[in-house]
Amino acid sequence: MTHDPESLRERAARALLAARDRTHLLTTCVDDHDLTAQHSPLMSPLVWDLAHIGNQEEQWLLRAVGRQNALRPDIDSVYDAFEHPRAERPSLPLLPPTEAHSYVTDVRSRVLDVLDSSPLRGEPLLDSGFAFGMIAQHEQQHDETMLITHQLRRGPAALTAPEPPVTSDGILPTEVLVPGGPFTMGTSTEPWALDNERPAHRRLLPSFLIDTTPVSNGAYQDFIEDGGYDDERWWSPEGWNHIREHRLHAPLFWRREGGQWLRRRFGVTEPVPADEPVLHVSWYEADAYARWAGRRLPTEEEWEKAARHDPVTGRSRRYPWGDEDPGPMHANLGQRHLRPAAVGSYPDGQSPLGVRQLIGDVWEWTASDFLPYPGFAAFPYREYSEVFFGGPYKVLRGGSFAVDPVACRGTFRNWDLPVRRQIFSGFRTARDAGAVGA
Ligand SMILES: [Fe+2]
Repeated sequence: MTHDPESLRERAARALLAARDRTHLLTTCVDDHDLTAQHSPLMSPLVWDLAHIGNQEEQWLLRAVGRQNALRPDIDSVYDAFEHPRAERPSLPLLPPTEAHSYVTDVRSRVLDVLDSSPLRGEPLLDSGFAFGMIAQHEQQHDETMLITHQLRRGPAALTAPEPPVTSDGILPTEVLVPGGPFTMGTSTEPWALDNERPAHRRLLPSFLIDTTPVSNGAYQDFIEDGGYDDERWWSPEGWNHIREHRLHAPLFWRREGGQWLRRRFGVTEPVPADEPVLHVSWYEADAYARWAGRRLPTEEEWEKAARHDPVTGRSRRYPWGDEDPGPMHANLGQRHLRPAAVGSYPDGQSPLGVRQLIGDVWEWTASDFLPYPGFAAFPYREYSEVFFGGPYKVLRGGSFAVDPVACRGTFRNWDLPVRRQIFSGFRTARDAGAVGA
């Protein structure tokens, strides 16, 4: 990534614009009733996300970076995600849809003036346009959240997108060996990387084997048909209690009809495609499947080594395919398609060892808890990640079809509760190399 101020300015402007195009689509394809309704207690009304996007942008780019007077200090508290859990947001005095749209538009036009005159250097928030990149990522993360709300919403489809391209190229090995040894995890040089991805540091891992693709719906159905949800042996004690208590027998949005598995996807009911990565499973379900298959989830370190380590040069790449930004040939990202591509797709995006679809398609649960890297420093605010460290969260890696490239890197870390499955989550499995040939 360039450090020339004019190119940085253009890059920041492009990232903000792309995020706004997506936000606009997600908040204008349904009517005001759907914008203000709460479609699930797990989610905010869409109109809360919309004005929250504008309020964060106002706080960071107008007030902190632009040193301007507050535009709407009266609404800061309503749109503070820590003050109000999602379930209570519908009862807040939210800006109505028309006002929310004009608020975010007003903030944005002032922000573009701030961007024009900012030196983009001289203090950590400005260096390489970090604050602008952070806010573009924040908006894209809410665009993914809003897409989850669209998936949970009942009623006819409001969004359409072309099918993912068919790009698989024949038979793949099911797993590859990642040789033991050190590798560099995290980053100290990626300008818009967030605090929890920093700093770069060395890790030493023993050899392991990892799946070349995410686990497919077909493979997951084998687990179901084999009685996986009725066999306590495969489940962690917490996972077993959870599926019993909530009577879970399949991924979220699946139902069985006439001997066939169907799923609801953005307002359309369709047969579950066997060759697509499984989606909408909790960490507990991923963990149980892996145990049933005689395997385990990869740790976060293993996932990142498989994704970034180049055994020839010994260095870690930005992405599995190299250092260039993601293009449509590399990965299924950015809500271009509203579903994952078939397992084995995107040969141009594979890692040096031949591992595919690490970036895009589905978020991948890992075995790891969400913890700080050695040398972590909270920036620019503790609530971004520090307050979540050591909590009951599991790390997800790689991003889904709903994630924009600006918020997706080989080092990017996501985290959620092990029960969550409304998110675009899947997984792949791994095993110790000591078990090879056993
Ligand atoms: Fe937020």
